[in-house]
Amino acid sequence: MLGILIEEFNCNHQADIDDADGRVQIYTRDREQKLIRTFIQDNISKGKAALMYLCGHPGTGKTSTLNYVLSSFMTGDIKAKLLLKLSVSMFNAMSFRDVKTFGFALLDELSQKFYGKAFDKYSKGSQKAAYDEDEIAIMVAKLLASKGDATKILVIDEIDAFESNQTGFLALVKHILASKTNTIIIGIANSVDLPFRKKGSAIAMRDAQILFEPYDEGQITTIIEEKLNMRFIDFPLLVKQNPIVKKMFFSLIDERAMTLISKKVSKMNGDVRVAFDIIKSAFVELQQRVKHFIPEGQKEESPDQMPEPKDIKITLELVTHVFKAKYGSKLPETLKCLPRQNLIILEAIVNLYAGWPSGEDRKINFGELQSEVEYLCKQQFMQDMIRSGATGIQNLMDDLQFYNIIEIEKPKGLEQRRDIKQSRFWLKVEFTELQTELKALYESKQEPLSGAGEAIK
Ligand SMILES: Nc1ncnc2c1ncn2[C@@H]1O[C@H](COP(=O)(O)OP(=O)(O)OP(=O)(O)O)[C@@H](O)[C@H]1O
Ligand SMILES: [Mg+2]
Repeated sequence: MLGILIEEFNCNHQADIDDADGRVQIYTRDREQKLIRTFIQDNISKGKAALMYLCGHPGTGKTSTLNYVLSSFMTGDIKAKLLLKLSVSMFNAMSFRDVKTFGFALLDELSQKFYGKAFDKYSKGSQKAAYDEDEIAIMVAKLLASKGDATKILVIDEIDAFESNQTGFLALVKHILASKTNTIIIGIANSVDLPFRKKGSAIAMRDAQILFEPYDEGQITTIIEEKLNMRFIDFPLLVKQNPIVKKMFFSLIDERAMTLISKKVSKMNGDVRVAFDIIKSAFVELQQRVKHFIPEGQKEESPDQMPEPKDIKITLELVTHVFKAKYGSKLPETLKCLPRQNLIILEAIVNLYAGWPSGEDRKINFGELQSEVEYLCKQQFMQDMIRSGATGIQNLMDDLQFYNIIEIEKPKGLEQRRDIKQSRFWLKVEFTELQTELKALYESKQEPLSGAGEAIK
């Protein structure tokens, strides 16, 4: 089962526009799907040539969402009569040396599609090179217009690659849009301001633009959960009906582990591929742990014993381990350099955060923190720290801010805060990571945690 799941999340590659047959189910992009579908349908009914630009950061689902919408057109989710009159061609700009080469590829594909023969590039009597960019653009527009009754969808992924050949590309797009070609061009790229950066950019002629925002925490969780659900639905009935398997499957990822993944990835870049990659690696690690299972009380692994099904899961500890292995973390090193007083503050912060529902951002004020710190100091016989009061704590907090562990809220406008206790701050590192690393540090120093540090254990 773990092997199947590893395969399921082994899609941290970027979707290719030609993948349309291997239709990947897309979640949480309903708005974008609807906008694309409506744009296509509107222009089909008007018979008008049009250009749409899809943009957004890597891994935000631009290519796969478009693939999904287009494949729903092809599989007949819309009226069959439309199907007969719809022709989709997909290209990736990166695979062409220049716009001219692309133009010839387009002429070839359209010629094959419409007339069952390759484009006659020697009709001008000499070589391909005899045509200039403008002539090629006119030929493409003519060929498209020769099948005026059919709607053509021309998808160009990584369209920004053509921006280096601006005039040629502008000519191509202009001719397609100006003639009665009945063609919808859909361009995809990362850049949001691409159309405005350069004068005379072809994409500036767009009729519509859709921005794919980076995925937020909730969306990442939904996508992963939905992918897992779909996997389960595909299992043979016998497997699905086994209550033990079912229970194990749906508790494979601990809730807190899932929150950590989604939160971290949304803060990093909102690229769902990164989340898939973490999940995949966590399943690989889990598989290893099951394979090399050492039963409790024994010293060596036992090939014929398996962990209890309830223990086969991706835990918070496992995910933290994977993140650390992949992206490293400066936190353990930073914690090691911090003096005892700062660590007490962090311990107090962890205690205050521990009772807070996961997934919600929290701000703490200095007053709250001071009470918790005083409590810990009494336990650890650090009366000096209590004596330095709120100002002492503020200095230590400034250190923590310097190390990027917390951020202190700046007073708004002209407001001068007299009362330090009302100052607020929040964690800049992941709470669970801080909790785990602090615990590891105390353990390595073999120092007992104070009673209130229960939350850290
Ligand atoms: N909403 C989603 N639901 C399910 N899978 C998704 C979703 N969004 C993206 N994916 C998957 O994540 C991977 C990356 O998506 P995709 O290649 O479409 O991103 P992109 O925005 O085109 O990235 P790039 O800018 O790098 O080309 C693909 O394997 C895709 O199937
Ligand atoms: Mg893409």
